[in-house]
Amino acid sequence: MQTAHLTPFIGTELTGATYEDLLRPEVWEEIVRQLHERELFVVRGLDITPEQQIELASRLGRPKPFLMAKYRHPEHEEIMISSNATNKGKPVGVARVGNFWHQDSSYQKDAAPYTMLHGVQVPGTSGHTLYANACDVYDRLPEEWKAKVEGRTAVHTVTKRQRIAPEHAGLSIAEFKALVEFEHPMVEHPLVKTDPGTGRRYIYGAPEYLDRVIGFDANENEAFFAVLDQLIQDPAHVYTHRWTPRDLVIWKTETTYHAATAIEPGVDRTVHRVSIEASGSWEA
Ligand SMILES: [Fe+2]
Repeated sequence: MQTAHLTPFIGTELTGATYEDLLRPEVWEEIVRQLHERELFVVRGLDITPEQQIELASRLGRPKPFLMAKYRHPEHEEIMISSNATNKGKPVGVARVGNFWHQDSSYQKDAAPYTMLHGVQVPGTSGHTLYANACDVYDRLPEEWKAKVEGRTAVHTVTKRQRIAPEHAGLSIAEFKALVEFEHPMVEHPLVKTDPGTGRRYIYGAPEYLDRVIGFDANENEAFFAVLDQLIQDPAHVYTHRWTPRDLVIWKTETTYHAATAIEPGVDRTVHRVSIEASGSWEA
């Protein structure tokens, strides 16, 4: 077994480990420590069953069943199937998940603190996942913007990214927006937060999930979103995860920005996702 930093800014990977290795307390404790320090942890080529993925997830918190029942794993409600594959013409999972920069579920009041993916069927040449560290983004914010964002809160929304589904047929744009806002009311979060584990400050909010920063006028909002987008997407600071079969990838949702990239035509890609809520066990 070997661990290595993926980039200077984010991520550590473990290679040559088996499920049995991960069950050893000293190995798991080191993974959790690295995850908390490096925001993203990758176990390369881990051959595990869905039950074993749920078991590993439950060591971090409480696996949370996905909202939409039809995209849950048929035998394991804790697993959401992210896939572009079809079975007898029907989609087996949610296609096109998170193909823009975001922090998972920041538009909710309490986002689950960890996300865990297992690459069940992953092409090597497309469908990569991009990651950026929100603490590193804060560090690189120009001083004038650091002063401007200090103490502010921002309004998060899913409306910019909500997809039109068959049940929305016949609605006007205004009716559609009103329905989304009713189902997902906007929420406010502090714009600058401090990671309790590392003491590092980070920006909480991605332009695609932000409506506005409270107290900024329209021009300041626009300018801030542009600065933020540039910092998040800076190629010199982004880690590109090129999936290899059976990779297990875990990240802290608040301090990790990420984006899915396109999958080449005619190629199936299936990933099992578990969202992990806080539970009393590890926080105590
Ligand atoms: Fe995501």
